[in-house]
Amino acid sequence: MNESIKILGIESSCDETAVAVIEVIGENLDCLASVVSSQVQVHAKYGGVVPEVAARLHVEKILPLIQEALKNADCGLKDIDAIAVCGGPGLISALIIGVETGKALAVALNKPLIRVNHIEGHILSVEKEKAGQIKFPAVALIVSGGHTQLILMKGYGDYELIGTTLDDAAGEAFDKTAKILGLGYPGGPAISVEAQKAGGKNEFNIKLPRPMIESGDFNFSFSGIKTSVLYKWNALKKDFSEHQLEIAKADMAAEFQQAVVDVLVEKAVQAGIQYDAKTIILAGGVSANKVLREQLGKAVENRLPGVEFNFPEMSMTGDNAAMIAVAGYYHAVRKDFADPLKFSADPNWELV
Ligand code: KG4
Ligand code: ZN
Repeated sequence: MNESIKILGIESSCDETAVAVIEVIGENLDCLASVVSSQVQVHAKYGGVVPEVAARLHVEKILPLIQEALKNADCGLKDIDAIAVCGGPGLISALIIGVETGKALAVALNKPLIRVNHIEGHILSVEKEKAGQIKFPAVALIVSGGHTQLILMKGYGDYELIGTTLDDAAGEAFDKTAKILGLGYPGGPAISVEAQKAGGKNEFNIKLPRPMIESGDFNFSFSGIKTSVLYKWNALKKDFSEHQLEIAKADMAAEFQQAVVDVLVEKAVQAGIQYDAKTIILAGGVSANKVLREQLGKAVENRLPGVEFNFPEMSMTGDNAAMIAVAGYYHAVRKDFADPLKFSADPNWELV
């Protein structure tokens, strides 16, 4: 009979408090419960995440969420075999809440504790139903509010950084551009909705740069696109009527989205070719973007025949604890456990 392992995952690195329980039996991976308490509406008032407010809300939510997750999973703390906690990167005041809760549980219950990197969690959010399904080497494109990275995966836990952003992360560029256009926070979903209104027309022929698309390496730079939006938008505001501006705003959002997607797709495909990837993974908050999913999917199909394209379910694109528990599972397999007395939250912990 295959051994069963139940892992409790905890995530509190930014503005989502999340708890999940997964069970792995043989190669079957089952998410028994995954609960997320998002603070997005609270931070929206301020146009971004306020760390101290985030921390306070994590404190309020973490224990009720653990109880809710256990109830949904139909099990008790005694049934949990290991506790996986996101240890960074993220906001220190926010991370501490999850980390200290996980440590306390591990010590009180005498269960192994696992320290999971948030980015590794995002990468492994693509694993569903079956464990051990990623074909290596894999190239993972991680696009979130804080990161834009291309990571070469030679196996579980065996990662190499092949490219990163030199300035803004892709999600950050979406958020800042949305602010310029007065579209609110978080900017990613807001830009997508606005872009759809353009219906592919680009009436005023707005053109934005595709920075570093031909740089020959796997690094990114997104702050120039955002600055270009700022200058163009301010100029349009001087000359255009309100009606024209309404149309131009949708065009600008669509062209911005396309510019970011063009660069991300091109670099991911080039990395796939150079590293002979068997799988391309797209993950992180920005992987919720439908245009990015569709266009990267098509590019992999056309330019990397036979290569698999893996991306998370929509509910797993944003921060969640199921991804932390899944990543934790692979650490447990390698018996890579953390010492509760030595484990502290690390806001700058880079996976590679
Ligand atoms: O991974 P995530 O939930 O948190 C971090 O680890 O940063 O990513 C959040 C980012 C935000 O910048 C948000 O604007 C972006 O993901 N995002 C999107 C979309 N949905 C969320 N960006 C583009 N298109 C979307 N549909
Ligand atoms: Zn994230």
